[in-house]
Amino acid sequence: MNRRIVILGFMGCGKTTVATELARQLEYRFVDLDSFITESQGRSPAEIIEQDGEPAFRQIESLALTEVLKDRDGRVIALGGGTWSVPANRTLIALHDCLTVWLDAPFEVCWQRIIDSRTVRPLAPDRETAKARFESRRDDYSLAERKIPIQPSNSVAAIVELCLS
Ligand code: S3P
Repeated sequence: MNRRIVILGFMGCGKTTVATELARQLEYRFVDLDSFITESQGRSPAEIIEQDGEPAFRQIESLALTEVLKDRDGRVIALGGGTWSVPANRTLIALHDCLTVWLDAPFEVCWQRIIDSRTVRPLAPDRETAKARFESRRDDYSLAERKIPIQPSNSVAAIVELCLS
């Protein structure tokens, strides 16, 4: 397989962890879109959203995605939780012939990880808001080429194997 792989799904579904391991196994580069934005902007996505608002962040995110997709080498790209919900981003990804993989974790799994991570997530400030966002994005996420159902008991290795099968 020499196709770029795009890992998507809600906050806390395990995108970064799974994409890192997938890239290691395939000997591909790993690119985390949130980290790419943090490095290029000098501010994290959360800081940008808090300071400039979500629409400004989405513009920055789309430009970052364009940059990340430019190189044609084998790479695994972990999106941010909302990247895939922007139609123009989906079109861009489709134009680059990437394998798109949705990590379909239940809301409770994502929410528990969001709480445990203790990182600031301005778009998931409380359970109710996070749940509404989770539900509103499912239709978009289901447009991914491949869907991997995630259960709390799944090991990272098992999830990676499913991604590759
Ligand atoms: C967001 C998810 C975050 C980050 C930003 C917006 C979202 O990434 O891109 O805070 O809209 O769901 P993670 O999914 O990696 O937490």
